[in-house]
Amino acid sequence: LTTQLAATPPMGWSSWNYYGDRINEKVIIDTIDKMVSTGLRDAGYIYVNIDDGWQKYKGSRVDNPLAIDENKFPKGIKYLADYAHKKGMKLGIYSGPGNMTCAGYTGSEGHEKEDAALFASWGVDHLKYDSCCSHQQASQAVLKTAFGNMSEALKATGRPVVYHACHCGWQNIWQWGAKVGANQWRIGQDISDDFNYPGHREDYYFDVLDMIDRGVGLEQYSGKGHWNDYDMLIIGLHGHSKELVGTGASDTEYRTHFSMWSILSSPLLIGANLDNLTAEDLATLTNKEIIALNQDPLGLQAKRVVSNGDLQIFAKPLADGSWAVALLNRSSQTAIMSLNIQQDLDLPWKKMLVRDIGAKRDMGAFEQRYSTEVQSHEAKMLVIRSGW
Ligand code: DGJ
Repeated sequence: LTTQLAATPPMGWSSWNYYGDRINEKVIIDTIDKMVSTGLRDAGYIYVNIDDGWQKYKGSRVDNPLAIDENKFPKGIKYLADYAHKKGMKLGIYSGPGNMTCAGYTGSEGHEKEDAALFASWGVDHLKYDSCCSHQQASQAVLKTAFGNMSEALKATGRPVVYHACHCGWQNIWQWGAKVGANQWRIGQDISDDFNYPGHREDYYFDVLDMIDRGVGLEQYSGKGHWNDYDMLIIGLHGHSKELVGTGASDTEYRTHFSMWSILSSPLLIGANLDNLTAEDLATLTNKEIIALNQDPLGLQAKRVVSNGDLQIFAKPLADGSWAVALLNRSSQTAIMSLNIQQDLDLPWKKMLVRDIGAKRDMGAFEQRYSTEVQSHEAKMLVIRSGW
């Protein structure tokens, strides 16, 4: 009996959004401890992923070996994997198909088998394999080979390692990511700590609404074991990231961001320094009913079923026959939004029972239409079921 890898979107933490390459052993140990003590682990966040910058050498792999920076990680990576496992968590590591990674450290090009074996010997459970800089101009054929090589190498180790083929959403990676063995792939460049920044910050970063737009139409590529990745979460950065640009978002906007990543079945990887999480951030990140939409066994990504300017509705069926719905108000004013089960969802139900899972309240039974007030930048999250 085999258990499918990443049968639901991976949940955890990644070092990049807050720390960039300013990471070390203490950061990882403290993060693991904090995930346990805050209840994040028990809410489902089990991966602690070390991103770029753990490697000792900058420059090409042709001139340098792949080695651990012992100033940052004196006890090595296996020690951290063992530590994570003891706490009921999993550890992720990072490399890339080029001879250099994005931040200029040694990559895995030409050393895939050796590196995969090394990662497996450390007991690593997740690999982010990031091509963004080295292969930006590469053809699909070259990319497929590069990503496929590492996928094969990981499989050959016999260790189940969740495989993130990270190509910043270029070359329609969603169309071929699953075929090269990837469990997740990014649909865009890096997120910024903004809900709706006009234009693209530094011509590179996408805000929350940009990312949501990028994912529209890609629903068919996402499913059990292979997910569209909307990028790491920005909740809790509050404009104070050491790495990302952006000025932060309001509690409502962070909640909307989280609710949308959930219903869109994106991996949920926290990007903040956990010491900076407010009580509100923690409540957002551990909202069980919202997380359940993300971890639903059916594994479908919500579709945008209504797009009426700034008022948009996203919906998806859940395994138990109910539907998850997001009423997203992107405008700067409060709006009344209505869900029509026949017109919007094509459901034959005569009545629907509505639960507002944000408010954690059953709203009652409605015929055809449910209308509610939605604040500016709020996503009202509903679960509806047939009232026969
Ligand atoms: C680009 C990726 O999109 C980021 O998430 C991060 O992994 C950096 N590369 C690391 O260099």
